[in-house]
Amino acid sequence: MCGIVGAIAQRDVSDILVEGLKRLEYRGYDSAGVAIYHDGRIERIRRAGKVSELKDALKESPISGGLGIAHTRWATHGEPNEKNAHPHMSEDNIALVHNGIIENHDELRDELKAKGYRFESDTDTEVIAHCLHEALKEHDTLLKALLATTKKLKGAYGTVAIDASQPDKMVVARSGSPLVIGKGIGEFFVASDQLALLPVTRDFIYLEEGEVAEVRRDGITLLNADGEAIEREFETSDIQHDAVDKGNYRHFMLKEIFEQPSVVAETLEGRIVDHQVYVETLGDNAAKVFEQVNALQIIACGTSYHAALVAKYWVEQYLKIPCLVEIASEYRYRETAVIPNSLFITISQSGETADTLAALNKAKGEGYLGSLTVCNSPASSMVRESDFTLLTRAGAEIGVASTKAFTAQLVSLLLLMVSIGKAKGMDKAVEHDIVEALEHLPSEIQKALDQADDIDRLSQAFSEKHHTLFLGRGQQYPIAMEAALKLKEISYIHAEAYAAGELKHGPLALIDKEMPTVVVAPNDNLLEKLKSNVEEVRSRGGNLFVFADKSANIQDSKGITVFPVDSQYAITAPMVYTVPMQLLSYYVAVIKGTDVDQPRNLAKSVTVE
Ligand code: G6P
Repeated sequence: MCGIVGAIAQRDVSDILVEGLKRLEYRGYDSAGVAIYHDGRIERIRRAGKVSELKDALKESPISGGLGIAHTRWATHGEPNEKNAHPHMSEDNIALVHNGIIENHDELRDELKAKGYRFESDTDTEVIAHCLHEALKEHDTLLKALLATTKKLKGAYGTVAIDASQPDKMVVARSGSPLVIGKGIGEFFVASDQLALLPVTRDFIYLEEGEVAEVRRDGITLLNADGEAIEREFETSDIQHDAVDKGNYRHFMLKEIFEQPSVVAETLEGRIVDHQVYVETLGDNAAKVFEQVNALQIIACGTSYHAALVAKYWVEQYLKIPCLVEIASEYRYRETAVIPNSLFITISQSGETADTLAALNKAKGEGYLGSLTVCNSPASSMVRESDFTLLTRAGAEIGVASTKAFTAQLVSLLLLMVSIGKAKGMDKAVEHDIVEALEHLPSEIQKALDQADDIDRLSQAFSEKHHTLFLGRGQQYPIAMEAALKLKEISYIHAEAYAAGELKHGPLALIDKEMPTVVVAPNDNLLEKLKSNVEEVRSRGGNLFVFADKSANIQDSKGITVFPVDSQYAITAPMVYTVPMQLLSYYVAVIKGTDVDQPRNLAKSVTVE
């Protein structure tokens, strides 16, 4: 979704701003813009489309200066065109960028119009620029004016503003949309994501809810929502530069798929010792909570929701306690009944998904034993606002379609399940079996990756199709759901997943030779049932692609293409089967020539409802 970069320095900041925007491209956006203070005035260039178009425009008419802000916009209010792109300005002297949604923008717009302000865009953001301009009539500093402005806003915002009459500073405010301040030598930067600033700094502070800050060349002033000064130390990030480098891979998505063996190893590092699970970071308090847990409520969105669905199978099989799983956007708005002694769990790659965060906040007043987040972003809002955190350690994920983060979530959820089990007296032999499967997982995933060329060839069969059906049973049903999501996200082919047992209740009507059916078929207790489903499709002229264990004894035959997958351990089979599914979507998308890493209309981190 939208991205923010700002900089104040002695040197020209235009390249820093554009490079920052490029690094935020992965979040998804549809227009971009930059505003720089130069020679007594603010100059602005905006373009619909990609950052490269903004870059070209800047080459043609360069603007330079030591103070500037920039933005990538993912349209919510108003079409994705140049007029609606940020930065927005008020009376030529305020320029402002904003992530989030201002819910009372209509009301504020009417008030501002009555005061004589003219609106140039259809965005909610423009009201903040005019409100700030108006507030400057009553407040002597930009910071005080911004603080006063925030009191008028309802909704979510991360915002940065500059003022041509006070060019020695920029001001920032955060409520519900992340912002980070980076420190250089005699220069400071702001961004909605630290990845944007890695070429210029590793030292960051994160703004907390309601805070505002003035950022100058020589330092910052940080205030809480009540206007009181706060001290906060900059922390050095250990995130790697090359995390945002594609290396020799054609796309970030492919790189991230291939990183999975090391991501799994990293996620397990220090958490399996002497063949036992030790999730040390959860701490003693967690063990006390786990002892009392009688049910789990897991909330997530998108791919993370599919990870939760797999966990449900594990939790109910091994812990024998109910595990309820729900999409965040549904949970947050309905009346819910909490099972006594339940633990509330969120799963999120970004830790910033608006609906999941809202669900977490709703859950706080509902009598859960506590909240735990399984998250890939250590400095995120979800981590800060949960009682316990289990970090997934997948590293920065740039491709909008989640791959390595999903696998890391599954590994983490399995570790979490065992940790809860141990607190509740899980049999040591069960723990041993799960640990053995986890220890072999990196090499099993590697074997699946070694078949990439074969999957590339197989993908030809899908590239001309308009629909695809995915079938699975048991813990592979959510993997079929995730496979369908991947295919639709990046290849734009309509894909649906069904629990194979539901075939007769509708989807069988769709079967013909034009619609491929992909079956996830490991050799487990449901294999014979699944074979019957395969026959049901084949006998109706369907075209099947069965991803099956070598030992499953399913052969290539008319209407059936079998793709062998080697997975020794039932419990980790969902992670292993995920890999060929990811590769299939990837290669189909490459043939179709779509924007694999930034699929149309989608965003990496959905920070608005
Ligand atoms: C977006 C992303 C998905 C992701 C979902 C949930 O839709 O494109 O890849 O699964 O948000 O995001 P989260 O960061 O909460 O896991």
